[in-house]
Amino acid sequence: MSTAAKGLEGIVAAETVLSFIDGERGILEYAGIAINDLAKDSNFEEVSFLMLNGRLPNKPEFDAFLADLRGAYTISDHTIGLLRSIPATAQPMHMLRTMVSALALEDPNPNSIDIPEVRAKAIRILAKVPTIVAGFDRLRRGLDLIAPDQNLTFAANFLYMLNGEKPTATMERAFDACMILHADHGLNASTFTARVITSTLSDIYSAITGAVGALRGPLHGGANEGVMVMLNEIENVSEAEQFVMNKLAAKDRIMGFGHRVYKSYDPRATYLKTLAEQLANDTGNADLYAKSHAIEKTMDREVASKGIYPNVDFYSATTYHSIGLKLDLFTPMFALSRIAGWAGHALEQLDGNRLIRPKADYVGPHEKPYVAIEQR
Ligand SMILES: CC(C)(COP(=O)(O)OP(=O)(O)OC[C@H]1O[C@@H](n2cnc3c(N)ncnc32)[C@H](O)[C@@H]1OP(=O)(O)O)[C@@H](O)C(=O)NCCC(=O)NCCS
Repeated sequence: MSTAAKGLEGIVAAETVLSFIDGERGILEYAGIAINDLAKDSNFEEVSFLMLNGRLPNKPEFDAFLADLRGAYTISDHTIGLLRSIPATAQPMHMLRTMVSALALEDPNPNSIDIPEVRAKAIRILAKVPTIVAGFDRLRRGLDLIAPDQNLTFAANFLYMLNGEKPTATMERAFDACMILHADHGLNASTFTARVITSTLSDIYSAITGAVGALRGPLHGGANEGVMVMLNEIENVSEAEQFVMNKLAAKDRIMGFGHRVYKSYDPRATYLKTLAEQLANDTGNADLYAKSHAIEKTMDREVASKGIYPNVDFYSATTYHSIGLKLDLFTPMFALSRIAGWAGHALEQLDGNRLIRPKADYVGPHEKPYVAIEQR
């Protein structure tokens, strides 16, 4: 019997038109368009349309998409009631997994696998999750909920509902770029989870709920929190170089560096670095950027020759902190954006579905006698 590589490394398990990754050359494209061009010139709404349809929209299609998305920002009284019942001490990713699942309860036809209907449900989930995350954070801080504003972009509306004031143009741009950069990344663990669930012809709520659970793991969505913890450990810029040297000497990992796929500069980090610097300067967090930059300089000198460069998490941490997000909201931010990719893959899976059902190699004994419990 042939056994696949542990962790399915190198195995091709699906076809997609959504994202292309070339780790050696540092390329990431969504539907053939370079990630940097999208991060600079597009917006998260357009990228979400791209994920759900495999291509960019024309103007009338985009206007209709915006109307659907913004029209679904509001959450029902039932959902607000559930949100209020969640303990303030709950971890946001556990809250999010529960609340995405609960959205199915008020859908009169949650199990539909009709592709246009699933796409419409995905738009509604994408629209409501920011309202849920911002609402949870305000409730746990003892603050009133802020109703979404349909005149605002996805990025601006989320920050408005969270902070109670409209973000600056730089904050909105930086947050929007983070959303674009995290929307899809091939057959990563949470996306694979969403496709496996969809392949059983289960519903889109189950697929996204399962994906949120997979994303929560520290080997997947949790690394940006690790970067922030590290930046907090370094008291000032002058200590950054020594901090890195000590870690490397102890064979410890520097969070936010290295990637299983990218062996050159992570293409998602390039533009984010510029935004992180601008935002940090604007928000009085210049020291945070300076520490990040000093870490990168030392890493570049010491380990770039091994193909270790900053990954997307490294400058996301400075960006999210400068926007005013609490540490435990960093991974939910990843989810806010990746819902577009998960749903896009679920739609691809439904189109020409085949149940994903690999085999396990049995490595236990055979022909053992059954021994009664009293004799064991
Ligand atoms: C992401 C990661 C797991 C990929 O690891 P990988 O492809 O399995 O690479 P390996 O573990 O085989 O590492 C190869 C070499 O680079 C070194 N290395 C890899 N990442 C490193 C890091 N972040 N800091 C310091 N050294 C690192 C390893 O120590 C190893 O060195 P050696 O050959 O001298 O033993 C790894 O780079 C890592 O742990 N990074 C930090 C966590 C992180 O930022 N994760 C988010 C990814 S988006």
